Amino acid sequence: MQLLNSSVGRKIIMAVTGLLLISFVVIHLLGNSSVFFGADGINAYAKHLHDLGPLVWVFRLIMLTLFALHIWFGLQLTLENSAAKPIGYAQKKRLRTTFAAETMIVSGVAILAFVVYHLLHFTVQVTNPEISAGNLPLDAMNRPDVFTMVVLSFQKTFIALVYAVAMLFLLFHVSHGFQSFFQTLGLNSKKSLPVFGKISKGLALVLFVGYLSIPVLIFVGLVKI
Ligand code: HEM
Repeated sequence: MQLLNSSVGRKIIMAVTGLLLISFVVIHLLGNSSVFFGADGINAYAKHLHDLGPLVWVFRLIMLTLFALHIWFGLQLTLENSAAKPIGYAQKKRLRTTFAAETMIVSGVAILAFVVYHLLHFTVQVTNPEISAGNLPLDAMNRPDVFTMVVLSFQKTFIALVYAVAMLFLLFHVSHGFQSFFQTLGLNSKKSLPVFGKISKGLALVLFVGYLSIPVLIFVGLVKI
């Protein structure tokens, strides 16, 4: 309880939940890459996941808790920080900060909006029911045809654009967020801070290129049914 009441405690919760969410994003990208192996790749992967049964719901509950804590404390810290900022200066003095660091709340809210859309799109499958796996015929191995759903989705300009823009927000959020983790937990020294900064930007870039490659390669027709 003391952890939740102190600003440092809240920062630690932000850092730990953030790192776990980034771990999910890395694993999710590895799983999604199976789309490049066609229906036998991603349909088999999706079936393995769904065959986990109740474990899927345990995982979803954990993810939901992580998301909720990260968002709740993120909003609180942003409000606290803006209340603590001195006012009255004619010119705002820029500290050593970056665009990504200053817009964490914006990129965070954009990612939240994307995740809600993404779940409605691929998990609940209500945004484009005409191409949802639930309404498409099963594949040759009697599995839900996630591959066809993903390909038909990213052939649509609007959907491909939504995902591309969302990945840009993810790029900014992770590029600052990952290095923040080390800073918050005091794992950085003057020497190691730039190194963590570089690792953070590198990871964000790999995630960006990896995730973006899926809608782009489908949209330009290099991955097709
Ligand atoms: C090109 C980008 C992406 C593709 C193609 C993609 C694909 C998918 C698919 C097909 C599913 C449904 C799995 C199933 O129920 O069979 C899914 C679920 C999900 N995705 Fe993504 N995803 C992408 C990006 C992201 C990103 C960037 C995030 C997080 C920031 C994310 C978070 C989730 C979550 C939380 C689920 C729900 C998992 C569950 O069903 O419990 N996805 N994604």
